[in-house]
Amino acid sequence: MEKVKREGFSSSLVVFFATLSSAVGLGNIWKFPYIVGQNGGATFILIYLLCVLGVGLPVMLSEFILGRSSKKNVMGAISDVTPRKFFKSVGIFGIIVAFAISCFYTAVAGWVYSYIGKAILGKFRGVDTVQAKEIFDTTTVGPLQPVLWQVVVLIVSSIILIKGVRSGIERVARIGMPILLGLLIACAVRGLFLEGGKDAIGYLFIPSFKDISLVSVVMTALGLAFFKLSLGMGTMMTYASYFPDDNNLLGNAVKVIIGDTIVSLLAGMAIFPSVFTFGGEPGSGPGLLFETIPLIFSKLPGGNVLIIIFFILAGLAATMATISMLEVPIAYLSEERKISRKGAVICTSIVVAVVGLLATLSANPQGLLGQKFIFKMTFFNFFDYISSNILMPIGGLLLAILVGYFMKKERIRHELVEKSGNSVGMMNLYYFILRYITPVLLIIVFLSALNII
Ligand code: PFF
Repeated sequence: MEKVKREGFSSSLVVFFATLSSAVGLGNIWKFPYIVGQNGGATFILIYLLCVLGVGLPVMLSEFILGRSSKKNVMGAISDVTPRKFFKSVGIFGIIVAFAISCFYTAVAGWVYSYIGKAILGKFRGVDTVQAKEIFDTTTVGPLQPVLWQVVVLIVSSIILIKGVRSGIERVARIGMPILLGLLIACAVRGLFLEGGKDAIGYLFIPSFKDISLVSVVMTALGLAFFKLSLGMGTMMTYASYFPDDNNLLGNAVKVIIGDTIVSLLAGMAIFPSVFTFGGEPGSGPGLLFETIPLIFSKLPGGNVLIIIFFILAGLAATMATISMLEVPIAYLSEERKISRKGAVICTSIVVAVVGLLATLSANPQGLLGQKFIFKMTFFNFFDYISSNILMPIGGLLLAILVGYFMKKERIRHELVEKSGNSVGMMNLYYFILRYITPVLLIIVFLSALNII
């Protein structure tokens, strides 16, 4: 059969930046701080780190192995391991989850874009709590403003995606990631010199075992780990299909996980000191970023410039993560369905723009769909909740089973030992954890969430 030439990333440094650019996103800057705030600070972070190590790392490595060994999109990669129909559905499942996440993620990314514009126009100068809330409401209620911004996010992402793996994804990650890290460190250092810096450090790093409901905290932490690391839906698998053959998969997974966690903590250090200094509420929910940041920067010397930088940083992170999730259906459509890359990008973006209306118009309680509920949740919360807390962990479980029980061990060995240069002992440890620890942990969490144990 004629082999179609496939694009790929050019070096291991690019691989690191590209995978990190998928992991780092609104999850670090928007979700992590408010979820930590709602779930009691450092104790939650500890549980989150355990989920990342016990579940996130093995699942990420499995996705890397599936992607690189097949050099195919999700469906192709899975069919390469087993012809069983059931696992084919795992591929379809991944593609559906990618759509579900994109629907609400691009809505929030749209708010970030609009905040960049507002910051440049100086709309946040001297705002107080009430005005900051008002600005957030007008940005999110709609219908016009949030929908338009969401479309802008999709257009920007599509332009990058149409350019392809090297000139699009790789170039943006290579330039964007170092800028993003630099800006974030600057914001975190600024935060730590505020009066509330010490309180914030205590809040983020000293666990207090006050009355937390363990099951729900573990579920939330697990969901956040999957969301943060872009796992369980084929994103990392698709990116890994572009990795060069000499990339050290385990080394890259460890670096990405450490890098992503550092970014989340830096985001916490950028946001919480200001929350404590200027009297915000750490557990105030999804509005935390959008309602407190303008308030904080309006009180800081040089805040008018800093706030522009901050939202550009968030916008960059959101865009790079968005392109990684859209790449899942795009790679599938162009490779399995033989649609041109450009056609696949346009189709995917249109579907997200249309279905995404459900999320965008329900994000604010006063929005057009703000009072429509599905399983007692708004569409926005529904997309968010089912994808992170249910679908991605289920996807992770199925992928762990696929690699742990259906892939030939020889193939895993080839990827980890021969190509990556990892030791046989390390491979055996990973294989053991993947077969016996990760699935059991996931099943226990599911069963206890369903009140079965
Ligand atoms: N990891 C991204 C974040 O934390 O913002 C979100 C994400 C990107 C989830 C890509 C899933 C995905 F496929």
